[in-house]
Amino acid sequence: MRIYERYTQKELDGFGLKGSLPEHVGIIMDGNGRWATKRLMPRPMGHRAGMEALHTIVREAHCLGIKALTVYAFSTENWQRPMQEVNALFGLLTEYFEKEINELDANGVRIVVLGDLSPMPEKVRNAMQKAIEITKDNTGLSFCIALNYGGRNEIVRAVRNIVKAGYKADSIDDKLISENLYTAGLPELDLIIRTAGEQRLSNFLLWQAAYAEFVFTSTLWPDFDPFELRKCIIEFMKRTRRFGKVVE
Ligand code: IPE
Ligand code: IPE
Ligand code: MG
Repeated sequence: MRIYERYTQKELDGFGLKGSLPEHVGIIMDGNGRWATKRLMPRPMGHRAGMEALHTIVREAHCLGIKALTVYAFSTENWQRPMQEVNALFGLLTEYFEKEINELDANGVRIVVLGDLSPMPEKVRNAMQKAIEITKDNTGLSFCIALNYGGRNEIVRAVRNIVKAGYKADSIDDKLISENLYTAGLPELDLIIRTAGEQRLSNFLLWQAAYAEFVFTSTLWPDFDPFELRKCIIEFMKRTRRFGKVVE
């Protein structure tokens, strides 16, 4: 099993990554369909190419020493796509986790699922549950996969859980809501990257995006590579984050 070393500070400096890295990066992996269509291929072939990009980017996030990477793989709205495409996507996800799990585990990656797995086909559910179980005690990169995920749905679910637990209105605060989201325990979201040119959240991490920085790139997801990721992080590092305060 291949072990991938973290970059040294000297290597990071060489990449132009001077300063503090984002702890938690979210990626809206968009543009697989357009990538395939441009090549006169069926859309699922774009998703296959997208899985390869994902493999490379997870490894890069690990080598950079990022604490959490959340990727948007399937939204609650994506069920409205043709069933054939949905099934192809699920098949590719299952294949990805079955194939990668040992290497991810050996590299200390912890797999987390954000979203409701219950309506997913059994094969996907089993592959994901196995990946979560095997890697649950790992302390390296938290690799979070937003699967059947919707930001609004996540907030509704949190509110329901809070009501069911019997909390009084006055005791409900930001912290309690955060603790009831799928992302409980993960570092604050620092950076959201969206590929393929669209500049919207499409229901991704709505609550968590409160003070995240956004970086948009026209690169289609299957073409997104470690160099592109580092460019987005360099862009992030140039930003002044004020969090509502006055910064000298
Ligand atoms: C992103 O690529 C992957 C998923 C939404 C699952 P798309 O399939 O949305 O690609 P485009 O936007 O149609 O090009
Ligand atoms: C967002 O992309 C969902 C994922 C990347 C999984 P979409 O392609 O579904 O978003 P819209 O429809 O362009 O907003
Ligand atoms: Mg899209």
